[in-house]
Amino acid sequence: MTGIHFVLNGAAVTVTGQPPTRTLLDWLREDRGLKGTKEGCNEGDCGACTVMVSDARGSRAVNACILFLPQLHGKVVHTVEGLKGQHPVQAAMVAEHGSQCGFCTPGFIMSMATGHLNGVTDHDTHLAGNLCRCTGYAPIVRAAESASREAVPEWLKAEASAVPSVEPPEGVALPRSSDELAAWYAAHPDGRLIAGATDVGLWVTKQLRDLGPVAFLAGVEDMRGIEVTEDAIHIGAVTTIAELLPAVAPHHPGFAAMLRRYGSAQVREAATIGGNIANGSPIGDSPPALIALGATLYLRKGDTRRSLPLEEFFLEYGKQDREPGEFVEAVSIPRQPDRLKCYKISKRFDQDISALLGCFNVTVDGGRVSAARIAYGGMAGIPKRATAVEAALVGQPWTEATITAALPAFAREFTPMSDMRASAEYRLEAAQNLLLRYFLEDQGLATNVLEVSA
Ligand SMILES: Cc1cc2nc3c(=O)[nH]c(=O)nc-3n(C[C@H](O)[C@H](O)[C@H](O)COP(=O)(O)OP(=O)(O)OC[C@H]3O[C@@H](n4cnc5c(N)ncnc54)[C@H](O)[C@@H]3O)c2cc1C
Ligand code: FES
Ligand code: FES
Repeated sequence: MTGIHFVLNGAAVTVTGQPPTRTLLDWLREDRGLKGTKEGCNEGDCGACTVMVSDARGSRAVNACILFLPQLHGKVVHTVEGLKGQHPVQAAMVAEHGSQCGFCTPGFIMSMATGHLNGVTDHDTHLAGNLCRCTGYAPIVRAAESASREAVPEWLKAEASAVPSVEPPEGVALPRSSDELAAWYAAHPDGRLIAGATDVGLWVTKQLRDLGPVAFLAGVEDMRGIEVTEDAIHIGAVTTIAELLPAVAPHHPGFAAMLRRYGSAQVREAATIGGNIANGSPIGDSPPALIALGATLYLRKGDTRRSLPLEEFFLEYGKQDREPGEFVEAVSIPRQPDRLKCYKISKRFDQDISALLGCFNVTVDGGRVSAARIAYGGMAGIPKRATAVEAALVGQPWTEATITAALPAFAREFTPMSDMRASAEYRLEAAQNLLLRYFLEDQGLATNVLEVSA
């Protein structure tokens, strides 16, 4: 085995001689002539490039434009050509007039076929990462609903579960354990780790960056998964947002509901919690929730491990407390009664990055605030805990007067920036209003805001 080996539309392929950051989309279209997979945005936003990827964990719809070939090693890939015009969602799209110009259609078909295979019933959520400029979506959703009454084709089930068994390829760093990853990173401290590639993919497709030596984390199985113990919810760094969402829902439904608005189904299937923390983005969605829950971050360099409160990891814009060769191994949330609410403000409800995210975890005993952990995204150069606001609340009666008295602390604590997502003034005012919303909801008073459950 010297190349990247996977199964494409039912036939085994071995890819050699490709740069490790060649995208599946480019390879399909340019090398294989499979032009059904379309290039719309080339940055994970439109879903025109959606393909189905299957392995022992099941089948997922993902964006081929920000998926690198080594991420497919040992997997099964289906493109629209692989459905051979014989899938019930294809017949349903014709019957329901779900296609007009047709550019978006192969991407929708692949999302729908994956949803059909997985028994998805919430088609609005599942298809939110596929954009169409012609149909207005209603015929497409009707097609998905009508196809869901048809059986999954046996040939597709058989092909999706025929996962090849492979050895590591030569010439590409695809560690299979955290020990192998630690050894590679110690030898290449200036190298670049690639987990879901939902950030790194854009560095290649949009910024045309040469990443130097890279290692792919997709096969590091001992850093994947969620373990719930009496004391903590322990989350491996390679766990995807799609895997985290249902696991965290029984414990912190507000966190899960916020994750439901994280990117799209395709992005959630690829993006990892480790990548969302390690990139240090001030508008990453999981860090404020995790900080409000008092999460601990676990880092590893070689054989040395250390841990720290998550908020201490973020030092300043673009700078984290992480040494060369050190990586995020896991994050854990202490078990606690659920008092968490997260409010994401973005221009679009689905598939949009936060302008502002507020996460609140306030404990009230005997009518007084006994503890408060509040964190925001989009209010500083880093995800930031609102310590001055917390101090203004703790020990005070849990009343609207206390909230009002705490509001001036926001201006001392935060100097948000203005950008295309929101102005500084908007951010400051909205951040204050979100605290009031948390209080009002806690009192059982309606705030008349559209939200979804996870
Ligand atoms: C269309 C679209 C929508 C998006 N929507 C959202 C959204 O709603 N909310 C949101 O928060 N983000 C969003 N993002 C951003 C992105 O999905 C997240 O930042 C994501 O979590 C990154 O994770 P990843 O696994 O894809 O990381 P990658 O892109 O693989 O890596 C990101 C960075 O983290 C480093 N890294 C990855 N894993 C580790 C590790 N274990 N240890 C050390 N370093 C590591 C990489 O080297 C790189 O520097 C969106 C992105 C796209 C393309
Ligand atoms: S081309 Fe738009 S998501 Fe891939
Ligand atoms: S049918 Fe034209 S973009 Fe969807």
